[in-house]
Parts: sequence; C-alpha cells; structure tokens
Amino acid sequence: MRVCILTGGGDCPGLNAVIRAVVRKAERQYGDEVIGSLDGFRGLLDGETVTLDIESMRGTLPRGGTVLGTSRIQPYAVDDGIGRVRRTVEALGIDAIIVIGGEGTLSAANELARDGFRIVGVPKTIDNDIGGTELTFGFDTAVQIAVDAIDRLHTTAESHDRVIVVEVMGRHVGHIATWAGIAAGATVTLIPEEPFDIEQVCRSLVRRHEHGRYASIVVVAEGAVPAEGTVEVPEKVYDRFGHVRLGGIGTLVAGEIERRTGFETRVTTLGHVQRGGTPTAFDRVLSTRFGLAAIDAVHREAWGQMVALRSGGMVLVPLTDAIANLKTVEPALWDDASQFFA
Ligand code: F6P
Repeated sequence: MRVCILTGGGDCPGLNAVIRAVVRKAERQYGDEVIGSLDGFRGLLDGETVTLDIESMRGTLPRGGTVLGTSRIQPYAVDDGIGRVRRTVEALGIDAIIVIGGEGTLSAANELARDGFRIVGVPKTIDNDIGGTELTFGFDTAVQIAVDAIDRLHTTAESHDRVIVVEVMGRHVGHIATWAGIAAGATVTLIPEEPFDIEQVCRSLVRRHEHGRYASIVVVAEGAVPAEGTVEVPEKVYDRFGHVRLGGIGTLVAGEIERRTGFETRVTTLGHVQRGGTPTAFDRVLSTRFGLAAIDAVHREAWGQMVALRSGGMVLVPLTDAIANLKTVEPALWDDASQFFA
C-alpha cells in the first residue's frame, strides 16, 4: 500500500513519535510505502510530499514539533480543495491517508472520509479535549511543563509575598489547568467550564493571606471566562482561520486581583512553551501506540475511524463520535481540585 500521513493544526509533543511508529510498522510488517504531506493538508492540496522511511525517521522519537510541518489549512475552506486533494491522491497513487490532528483537522478528515477518501484519524492536542479517547498525546507533556513552571513560581512568589497568576493553554476546556493546579498546589484554578466570579477569587486570596505572609498561585486556563456581568472582557481577536486568538485572561485576572485586594500580583503566560520540546516518556509511549494502531487500522480498512485510548488499550472509534462533543473536565475531578482552593 502507499500510505500518506499528515499532521494538521497546532503542533504537539509526540507527533514525530506517531509518524515514526507508523513508518516502522508499515515498512517492516506490511511492506508499505509511506509518504508525508507537508504542512498538514497543504501538501495534499499542492501535491507536495516527502518520502518517509525507517532511516529518515531515526532520532525523531524525542524531538518535539513535526518533521512534516503543520498548518490550519483545510481542504473544504479553499477553492476546489477537494478536487485538488483528489488529483494528488490519484497522481501519487495514495491508498490511504492517516490524519493526525485535533478538533479542526479531524473534522476535515471526517468530511473527507464521508466524501469517499480512505482516512484513519489519530487524536492530537495538548488540550486533551477530543472525545472518544481518554487521553491525547502532548497533554502529559504540557501538564509537566506547567507544573515545573509553577514549582518555580511558588518560590519567587513566597520570597516576595506576591500573588502570581499563571495562564496555561486550554482553549475550550480546562484539563491542563486542572491537572497542573492539582499537581502544583494552586490556590485557585479557573477553567472555561466554570465561569468564575472574580470577587469570590479575591475573597479566597484575602482569607488565605489573613494569617500573615502567604503567597498564592492562581492557575488560569486561557479560555476561562468571568461569570456574566462581573468583569468586562476585551473584544475577541481572530486569526486568518477564524480561530479566536486567546491569551490575555491571565493579565486581566491579575489586574483585577491587585486592584481589588491590594496584593502585589504578577502574571506569567506559559503559552507555546507548553507545546514545544521533547515529549514525556508517557507521551512517547502513547504516541507510539497510536501510530502502530493507526497503520493496523489502515490494513483493516477502518475508514472514517480514529484510534483511541480506552481502559489502557487501543481501540477504534468513529471520527463522527470523536468530534461530536468536546471532552470537558469531569465534574468529579473538578470537585477533587476544588478541595484545595483557599
Ligand atoms: O489547540 C491547541 C492550542 O495549543 C490551544 O491550547 C491554543 O489556544 C491554540 O492551540 C494556540 O494556537 P496557535 O498556535 O495558532 O496560536
């Protein structure tokens, strides 16, 4: 078989580990040829691909980013996109496409599968918000990076007796914030699923600081929103793909805390640091298992399906199910996290 693989959307630690695993099993076990589409769907649109083999993937397991490049370009959003993809598939004799992506990329993959393309999906995002799978790779790495940063921020916050607001990624959901908040001992954590009352946040901090010097860490997911009518939020800015450009809620929260409590407050926005660099051991294993399961799925002709982690094992779920609903923070975990809020 001739299998094409692509990485779409935001990058994520573990992408290369998935590609490496696909290539390994495709070549060794199935005798396939693997090619990579450059910059996500752009390569399929423009006919730009590279040959991938075991040799070319050597040394990539611990490397962050993606050797194929990525973009948010979607075939359904450009002129004659489907026709262009079809022409590339025919010209290059592509038998199957493995699409590694998050919500946007997998939605496009689902539509392509409906249009008859032979597609298998692999869920990717540091946000961990894809349905159908218990975890996505990249999430563990992002949480570890956030926890390492917060551990450091604790000591400087304590020295100066300050409040430090840490903004982490999490566009629609607060998995990173919740996990990092629990693991690093946040005073308060704010997530998109639970609109926050800034007055209540400030009351918690004041209560905690009543007993003398007592620094606080407030973890805020970038998509967290104030409860309606509590704080004015600046107008949203969109990128050229119609994605809201997030980042800024931490600064807003820090400003409000300082103004309302008088506590000296600083803000740290972790941003893309959480997406860069080497994946954790856990993510390398998960990515490797996803890659192996994806090439197996191709040989089972499981078109329109996505590999997923369920009860510790690899399963296949329909792409339609995976993208139907974003996976939000489970109420029981949020309740556990809340037990430690000031
Ligand atoms: O979806 C993953 C993610 O890292 C989000 O957490 C974040 O909002 C977004 O991507 C950032 O995207 P970009 O790299 O386009 O700024």
